[in-house]
Amino acid sequence: MRHERLATCASTNDEARAAFEAGAPLPLLVSAAEQTAGRGRQGRSWSHAPANFAGSFVIEASPRLVETPGAVAFLAGLAVTDALATYGISRHDLRLKWPNDVLYRERKVAGVLSEFVEALGRRAFIVGIGVNLAEAPGETRFPAAAAFSEHPPEPARFAESLAAAVEAWTNAAAREGPGRILAAWRSQAWRLGQPLAVRGQGPEPAEGIFEDIDDRGHLLLRLPCGTLRRVAAGDIADR
Ligand code: BTN
Repeated sequence: MRHERLATCASTNDEARAAFEAGAPLPLLVSAAEQTAGRGRQGRSWSHAPANFAGSFVIEASPRLVETPGAVAFLAGLAVTDALATYGISRHDLRLKWPNDVLYRERKVAGVLSEFVEALGRRAFIVGIGVNLAEAPGETRFPAAAAFSEHPPEPARFAESLAAAVEAWTNAAAREGPGRILAAWRSQAWRLGQPLAVRGQGPEPAEGIFEDIDDRGHLLLRLPCGTLRRVAAGDIADR
């Protein structure tokens, strides 16, 4: 995969989008040592330290992935766990938190911001990933962690492992369909089968048991009254 490494930029998602719109061949990774206006989900900002990884993949939106856009963030989370495992992080300590986060020992170590783009007759997903390799930001909504307390990999080197994992999962999704991604994600899901509160569209979080994800990647929450609620977008509210 072609990798463009920048010293600084506002957001690698924006740089990746611009490269895609200019006709860059796919897949592509744009990463940066410094981001001055990193973006998170739901209009939040993303704080990035130079010793951490910040980068955006542009992957072709295969028809099977377009059917299940939620699988794109799942694929990214799976790739992050693979890449961290390459550098010796135990998979037992890593979990995937619905819909877009990776946890290390119950704390957020990575986040994903995926966006669908169309230009020049091509369709793609921009998959922005931030991984706290060496430093955890303070003052976060959900407690954050760094994956490595000593000897973190160089971000540019980590990028190569992550790119290989993103490519492998993208190919698996195109070949076998998003069901393969959903099954793999489910096997590493945080709090599956357990009680939790989900902040969705409504003002109050809904409480229930995290029963499963459906074939579109939506969270299925069993409410105390017995009803199964499907949550398409939101956040797990508690820790
Ligand atoms: C989240 O957890 O809310 C998603 C965070 C995504 C952060 C990454 S860092 C690289 C890419 N560029 C951005 O501006 N955001 C994503």
